[in-house]
Amino acid sequence: MSEPDKPVLHVIAGSTRPGRAGIAVARWVAEYAEKHDAFAVELIDLAEVALPLFDEPHHPRLRRYTHEHTKRWSATVERADAFVFVVPEYNHSFNAATKNALDYLVHEWAHKPVGLVSYGGVAGGTRAVQALKPILSQLKMTPLPESVIIPFIASFLEGDGENRRFTPNAEIEDGATAMLDALARTAPVLRQLR
Ligand SMILES: Cc1cc2nc3c(=O)[nH]c(=O)nc-3n(C[C@H](O)[C@H](O)[C@H](O)COP(=O)(O)O)c2cc1C
Repeated sequence: MSEPDKPVLHVIAGSTRPGRAGIAVARWVAEYAEKHDAFAVELIDLAEVALPLFDEPHHPRLRRYTHEHTKRWSATVERADAFVFVVPEYNHSFNAATKNALDYLVHEWAHKPVGLVSYGGVAGGTRAVQALKPILSQLKMTPLPESVIIPFIASFLEGDGENRRFTPNAEIEDGATAMLDALARTAPVLRQLR
């Protein structure tokens, strides 16, 4: 899937819950990003990454990782040039697995742009997006304003459980194009800082 001449985009599926809607959204984002064609796209599923609750003894800025799962996660994030975080809204914020995955690392995230795709009920995960942005900034990432907000997620899903298929409307597709265009413009510029 990776093409060396293109920057690497990680689409991170944040929800790890059995039966989650998020994996269908993340699969669609990854497919749409492939068609957009600016990036070598990798779908990163936090359920498969399966990080335990943060268990490193040292601050991650020191990169003195003691666990294989942290070393693997570090190598994964290191190779990305840009990210799309696909996040659910849980209790007016983003979900804990996404925060846990962020907390494991410092330098590997820095100077890379982030597009946000959120979903939920009536608010479409806007509160998850707003809660996530200061944390991304603290990690020296650049969260872009071109977020994709998906209200009433269940109405875009067909099928059963994690095999459900997400079918976007025209507004969601236009929003995803704007987000990917902005990521493609920003990634090479931020690369100069690394
Ligand atoms: C613990 C929990 C808290 C939730 N809190 C919110 C919320 O604050 N706002 C909202 O719009 N939806 C909320 N929901 C509904 C979720 O947006 C919806 O269930 C969505 O499918 C969750 O994403 P997931 O299936 O990928 O885990 C919540 C769901 C869960 C499980």
